[in-house]
Parts: sequence; C-alpha cells; structure tokens
Amino acid sequence: MLNVDEKFVFGPSTAVGEFAVNIPGATALFRKHKIDFCCGGHISLQEAADKKNVNIDSLLLDLAKLERIDESEQDKSPSELIDYILTRYHEVHREQLPELIRMAARVEAVHKDNSNVPKGLASFLENMDADLICHMKKEENVLFPIMKQGGNPFVTQPIGMMRLEHLDHGKTLEELSKLTNDCVPPIGACNTWRALYAGLDQLRNDLMNHIHLENNVLFPIFEKEYGDVGECHSGSTSCGCGH
Ligand SMILES: [Fe+2]
Ligand SMILES: [Fe+2]
Repeated sequence: MLNVDEKFVFGPSTAVGEFAVNIPGATALFRKHKIDFCCGGHISLQEAADKKNVNIDSLLLDLAKLERIDESEQDKSPSELIDYILTRYHEVHREQLPELIRMAARVEAVHKDNSNVPKGLASFLENMDADLICHMKKEENVLFPIMKQGGNPFVTQPIGMMRLEHLDHGKTLEELSKLTNDCVPPIGACNTWRALYAGLDQLRNDLMNHIHLENNVLFPIFEKEYGDVGECHSGSTSCGCGH
C-alpha cells in the first residue's frame, strides 16, 4: 500500500475512480493505458490493469511518482533553482494543461444541461495555456540564460516584465476560481468532473508556488545585486508574491 497523503492510501484493490479523483495527472496515465476511469471507475486498479495487460507494479509506481514532493528551495544556487523550476513547474504545467482542457471540453459537452456546468471553461483554459507557454518561453529563452551566466545590469528589465505577467496570472487564477465554484464539484458530479476540479486545484497551487519561488526567492538574488527596479508594489496578493 502506498501512502500518498494522510487522507489517501492506495493499493491494487483501490477503485480506478478513486485514483482519478485523488491524484491529479492520474487520468492522463489511465488514458495512455486505455484504462476507463469514468464509467469503469468502480473496478479495482488490479482488475483494470489485468484487462489491459498492464503491469500493476509499474502502474502503481507511476501513480506514486505523480505525487511530487516539493523540496526545500532556500539552499539552492540560482542555477539549481532554475533547473528545479523548469522540471517541477514548467514541465508539469505543460503536461497537465492539455489534459485539463480535454476534460473540461468533455464535462461541458456531456453536462451541458446541468446548471452547475463551468460554461466556457475549456476555451478559458486554452487561453490560459497559451499565455503561460508564452510567459515560460520568455523565461526559458531570455531571462533564465542571463541568470545562469551570473546576470548583468539589464537583468532587472526582464525581471520587471515577468513580475507584471505574474500579476496577470494571479488575475486568471481568480477568474478560474469564480468559473469553477472554487474548484468544488457539485454533489453527484461524475469522476471526470471531480478529476478535472482536483487537477485544476493542483494547477492553481502549483502556479502560486511557482510564482512565489520566482518572485520571492530567485528574482531578489539578482535585484539585490543589480538594483530593485522590478519589485512588486501592486498592493495585491493575487500574484502570490505576498507584497
Ligand atoms: Fe516560470
Ligand atoms: Fe514566471
């Protein structure tokens, strides 16, 4: 048995639907193995794996890996911090958003007559995905390479720009919460709907931690050295920077 967190302990006898709801990203793994997690979500993982000739041990291992544990960031060098941000956040956002968009489109189509349906969520997430990819590319292609070389007096300009874009991400997260009843599915929601909201909640937490790490840990290292022009004085907490 694997202990994902205090509330969810899983093993081969756990129902497929339970994984889908409790482990964001599990649905993408099930889709890869053609395991039905919605209508067939009541059967055990063992039974579902046997049906599809999937090795149960490697499947359990992959599910355990999805539950990533944040490491302490304080003692990392700027270069180590950047590598951590790239693998823990940039890659994970890129993996998760397309699956969330697919699930949102499905929920909107199947439950279009339900008054609780998050109307327009799929296209909202498509825009969010496009904005996030554009932002991450700027960091990956411009800002992070400068930082990896030790920075220069002009580094505060792209830092300031990234801080402004983080404010926009914060506003997007506020809209997402409004659109999804704060990621709380309605009573009786199907497994896909519940998995979608669990995944969005994870995305929301990840994005806030991602922005926090850049705004409050990585960027100040360079601002201290080259000047503090990019500091966020918005008075808003929506960027997750806490200023
Ligand atoms: Fe980033
Ligand atoms: Fe960023």
